[in-house]
Amino acid sequence: MTGFTTQAIHAVHFNEEQAVVPPIYTASTFGQPTDGTEGPYEYQRGGNPTRSKAETTLAAIEGAQQAFLYASGMGATAAAMGILEQGQTLIMGMPVYGGNYRFATIELPKRGVQTQLVQDLSTLTDADFEGKKVGMVFLETPSNPTLRVTDIKKVADLAHRHGALVVVDNTLMTPYLQKPLELGADIVVQSATKYLAGHGDLLAGVASTNDPQLADQLFKAQLISGGVLSPIDSYRLLQNVKTLALRMDRQQSNAQALIQALADHPAVDTIYYPGSYSAQEAEIQAQQARGKGSLFSFTLKEGYQMKPFLDALKVFTFAVSLGGIESLVCLPTSMTQGAYSQDDKEASGLGDRLVRVAVGIEDLEDLKADLLTALDAA
Ligand SMILES: Cc1ncc(COP(=O)(O)O)c(C=O)c1O
Repeated sequence: MTGFTTQAIHAVHFNEEQAVVPPIYTASTFGQPTDGTEGPYEYQRGGNPTRSKAETTLAAIEGAQQAFLYASGMGATAAAMGILEQGQTLIMGMPVYGGNYRFATIELPKRGVQTQLVQDLSTLTDADFEGKKVGMVFLETPSNPTLRVTDIKKVADLAHRHGALVVVDNTLMTPYLQKPLELGADIVVQSATKYLAGHGDLLAGVASTNDPQLADQLFKAQLISGGVLSPIDSYRLLQNVKTLALRMDRQQSNAQALIQALADHPAVDTIYYPGSYSAQEAEIQAQQARGKGSLFSFTLKEGYQMKPFLDALKVFTFAVSLGGIESLVCLPTSMTQGAYSQDDKEASGLGDRLVRVAVGIEDLEDLKADLLTALDAA
């Protein structure tokens, strides 16, 4: 059983009643043997059969030994970054999702962990690891929202030479398009709220690894901090992930066609998509991923107005988030990356004219007409 969708559908089985979908175990506690041994489940925070089935499925499609589900993507980031200890440094490749930035720049310093923001991880060298205890390199590739591409294997080789862990936020690609663990990452985190769940109606996060010691720490983050995914949302995620490949294929082909359609519009300045920055980044993307996904951004040319463009959209919703079946646009500089300091916004090239487009599965002609008509109104 090696095909992606076959695994997504059949990685776990429930044989009772020959049901083709799993039951939802809502029990908060589980009866225990009285002979001093442990039952398979004790208390829902530490483990639940429905959550376990979803975790097994996500581990299978990720090519990971183990996966752990949290109540949101930020729960997964918090679990991974929570591995860092006082006195260590986190190197973070910019730009990242505003929540990841917030955790690294507000929460980690409170724990005695320094965060060093690096604008372009391709410039990272041995010198960046000297004179400090770098515990982790955290990156998103393609990055959100400018879609810069980082060579995961190159960063992993460098970080590992200095004893640092590599954590990749793979939300934009999902394991369908990119498998960071195979490229040397130690932990993969994802906002499962996005493509994995895919229908704009639940929050979830997942962290996966092949390292048993890291797995133990990710499990402890569930057990100790308690931000676990509920059985009902675990079930819904398990069901939704079965159609991930179908949804992503459609979203990706829609996105490619929209990028082409927008390229000729006079109101559109630069378009950002994975590989658009340079031929080198395009090559890295082609090598380490099976596609470019369905998130892209563009800048509205000077002289054109943002509000009439947003007001004219009828199919796209003006909202944060991405990866769902419904198409969305947002303004990252004030929304998803609103937590950035002004300096970090400027350093990451985030201006007020930047529009992020998250493409859904609607009919292409409707999406195209909606965007082009709205741009005419700009
Ligand atoms: C790349 C990325 N990582 C992490 C998160 C956080 O996920 P959640 O909103 O599920 O907490 C998001 C949310 O937008 C994201 O876009």
